[in-house]
Amino acid sequence: MSLIPEKIRKDFPIFRNNPDLIYLDNAATTQKPDSVVRSIVNYYENFYSNVHRGVYRISEEATSMYESARKNVSDFIGSGDPSNIVYTRNTTESINLLSYTIGRKLKKGDRILLTEMEHHSNIIPWYFLKEAGIKIDFAKVKEDFTLDYEDFASKLSPETKIASFTHVSNVLGTINDVRELTSMCHENSTIAVVDAAQSVPHMKVDVGKIDCDFLAFSGHKMLGPSGIGVLYGKEDLLTEMRPFLGGGEMIREVDYTNATWNDIPWKFEAGTQNVEGAIGLSSAMDYLKSLGMENVMDHERRLIKHLFARANEIDNLISFGPLDLEKRAAVFSFNIGDVISYSLVEAAIKKNIKISNSIHPHDVAAFMDHKNIAVRSGHHCAMPLMGHLGVAATARASPYIYNTISELDLFMDSIRDCSMEMKR
Ligand code: ALA
Repeated sequence: MSLIPEKIRKDFPIFRNNPDLIYLDNAATTQKPDSVVRSIVNYYENFYSNVHRGVYRISEEATSMYESARKNVSDFIGSGDPSNIVYTRNTTESINLLSYTIGRKLKKGDRILLTEMEHHSNIIPWYFLKEAGIKIDFAKVKEDFTLDYEDFASKLSPETKIASFTHVSNVLGTINDVRELTSMCHENSTIAVVDAAQSVPHMKVDVGKIDCDFLAFSGHKMLGPSGIGVLYGKEDLLTEMRPFLGGGEMIREVDYTNATWNDIPWKFEAGTQNVEGAIGLSSAMDYLKSLGMENVMDHERRLIKHLFARANEIDNLISFGPLDLEKRAAVFSFNIGDVISYSLVEAAIKKNIKISNSIHPHDVAAFMDHKNIAVRSGHHCAMPLMGHLGVAATARASPYIYNTISELDLFMDSIRDCSMEMKR
C-alpha cells in the first residue's frame, strides 16, 4: 500500500500551522502527529504522577502506561522481552551508557572497531576509553560510499572486544548490512553494537534477526518526543553490566556501607523517569505501525529515486552516497561545486564543474530557508567522515513520511536557482 503524504500531513499540527513549510530535516529530528501530542497531554492532564513509587491509583496507572510503552517498544524492534529495553535520553546516551559499562571492563591493549561513517555519538563515548589504553580502529568507507566489509573483517583482531557501527549513515544514507557485520563480530567473539538512530524510524528493524548484542535509537527521530531514547541489550549482557547512573529506583537495597542493584532494565533507570517521553514514543510507534514500516520504506525509496533523477539535471551538483537504491536510505547530502578531494575533483571534471565555483552549504541552506525549505548544513556531527570526503561540510535533505514529490520538485528547483545565482 502506498503512503499518501498529503493525507498524513493533516495529522501534523506543524503543517496545519505552517502550511508552506517544506520540512526536509528529518535525519535531525521529526515532526509530531496529533496522536503523540495528545498522548502526552493525556498523561499530564489525567495521570501525572511518579511511577514505580506510588500505591495510589494515578501512580499505578502511570506505571502501567510506562511499562506498556516498554512492551510496545520491545515488540516494535522484535526484542522478545521488555526487560531488554532500557529507556535512555537518546542514542547518544545509550552509547555513553555502553562505554561506561562494557567499555570500562576492557583492558589496556584491547581494541574497539568503528567505521569511518560514524556520527560523533558513536565515536566520542569510545574515545573516552583511550585514557585506559584502549585502541580505536575505523573500517574504511569505499569510493562508492559503501562500507568496506573486507577492511572491517581484517580489523577484527583478537584484541577487538567491541565493534560499534551505524545501520544507516546520517550523511551518506548508506544502509549497512548489520546482520552480516554482527555475524563477523560473533565469529571473532566481539560484542556487536548497532547505532540504529537513522534506521528504526525508517524501516523494519528486528534485533532478533540481526542478532546484535546492543542496539540504540532515539524517539525524536521517529515522530516521538525529545529526551527519550532506547538501548536494547541481550539479557545476559545487561544482567552482568554495572549500572550507569546511581540514585533512586536503580537499587534493590541500600545501607550505610553498601548497595545492591535492581533487576534489568530498572538497574539502568536511576531517578524519576521520562514517563511522558515513553508514552509519546509508544504512541509514535503506534502511528508508524498503522502506516506499516514496509510502506514507510517504499515511500522513502520513491522520494530518493525522484531526488536522484532531478539531481542529474543540475550540472554542478555533487551528491554523496551510494547510487544503488537498495543500499540507500532517504538521506541526500550534496554540495554545489564544493569540491576538494581528489576523487571528487575527478567527478567534477567529468561533470565540467568549475572547482573554484563553490557555494558554502550554509549559504545553500540559507537560500532554501528564504523559500521556506528546511534543510541541514554543516558537518552533521560526522567531522571525520567530512575529512574523508574531502569537504568541510555538506547540505542535506532528509525526507520522511509526510514529504511529497511536489515538495521535492520545489526543493530541486531551488537548488537549481541557487546554483544559477552562483554562476552569475
Ligand atoms: N544526528 C542528527 C543529524 O544527523 C542530529 O542531523
